[in-house]
Amino acid sequence: MFRFDGGSGADICLRPEGTAGVVRAALGGGLLGELPSRLFYYGPMFRRERPQKGRYRQFTQFGVEAFGPSHPHADAEVVHLGVRVLEELGVLSKTTLHINSLCDAETRARHREALLTHLRARKHLLSTESRDRIDRGSPLAVMDSKHPGDRAALSGAPRLLELASEPAAARFRSMLTGLDALGVRYHVDHSLVRGLDYYTGAVWEFVTGELGAQAAVLAGGRYDGLVGALGSRADVPAVGWAAGVERLALLRAAVGAWTPAPSAPLVWVVEVRNRRECSSGAVAELCLKMAANLRYAGLRVRYEHFGDTKRQLRQASSASASVALLFGTSELRNSTVTVKNMRSGDQTEVRTGDLDEVIARVKAAAESRDDSGVRG
Ligand code: HAM
Repeated sequence: MFRFDGGSGADICLRPEGTAGVVRAALGGGLLGELPSRLFYYGPMFRRERPQKGRYRQFTQFGVEAFGPSHPHADAEVVHLGVRVLEELGVLSKTTLHINSLCDAETRARHREALLTHLRARKHLLSTESRDRIDRGSPLAVMDSKHPGDRAALSGAPRLLELASEPAAARFRSMLTGLDALGVRYHVDHSLVRGLDYYTGAVWEFVTGELGAQAAVLAGGRYDGLVGALGSRADVPAVGWAAGVERLALLRAAVGAWTPAPSAPLVWVVEVRNRRECSSGAVAELCLKMAANLRYAGLRVRYEHFGDTKRQLRQASSASASVALLFGTSELRNSTVTVKNMRSGDQTEVRTGDLDEVIARVKAAAESRDDSGVRG
């Protein structure tokens, strides 16, 4: 924390990151009344760190936070948004995605005891800071340490995912299936625990070898307890990430220019289902892939993993989507997608393999919308 005496008894603390502030602003400003709510932010952050290349006391972050979606595929989609940002900046190939899960409270408690036992038996190897952590009963941060003695003590230490409860393990597997479906490459890193206390599930970092010790350029995770902890009566599932602008600029120094996509039609991917159940299985994977492919084609795409067909179409309509793409079991059987023009209500079936045709239908629907003077 960058905390100092501001004079006249003023105790000043500058914000070290954006997530907690976004949650407070969203709670105070009523932005969580209607879920899901997807927010982004940009601005200066401050940390009392020892400055060096890529590590500053004042730096700039931009970040995204999704409130409401709890499905592990939503985690995969949020990670994929990071992939696309890095790709557009031309630096993705210079990074590796490290990913781990902090599992659930039950697993974390079991892991904490096992890790404490392991590290207490090797206390003589530990740095003073890590010894303090052991004495305070909070050993998780030791896993993050770069100190050679700490690294030696951690050899053979118990891993969170090896002690994971079945629901936590299944959640993580499902997220990885989503990443696989999206073609995102990752490295499961059992030592990744992140320095912030609010994480409750998947955590990840895009790490680069080009910036010396300051390796992470974009990082985040799931934090289902923070909204409740900051005063909401109901818990709100949340997932997001932030990226360091200066580190991205340093990383980009060696790479070429990029052009941002112009404003594009909005497409709503709808998973056809009757009950209010979470998405899973082959139809969900088809939705994930279609959403990703259309984003690559430069379209704006939303897919909410939640709610019955009617609810999803209502959301599409209130967001002024040009088109809804409906996927259900019959579409899966026939390898088709139903393209619904949200203005006229017309529906046509297109083969899912024919992406060009899907895109052409979306563009035609968007143009007919523009002609009518209707605006989102
Ligand atoms: P973080 O990993 O602490 O996460 O910071 C995110 C990014 O900010 C880092 O990957 C790095 O690029 C940049 N950064 C951090 N510290 C510095 C520094 N001293 N100098 C330059 N760049 C820096 C968070 O802040 C979380 N709020 C991310 C998040 C959002 N989790 C969930 N939602």
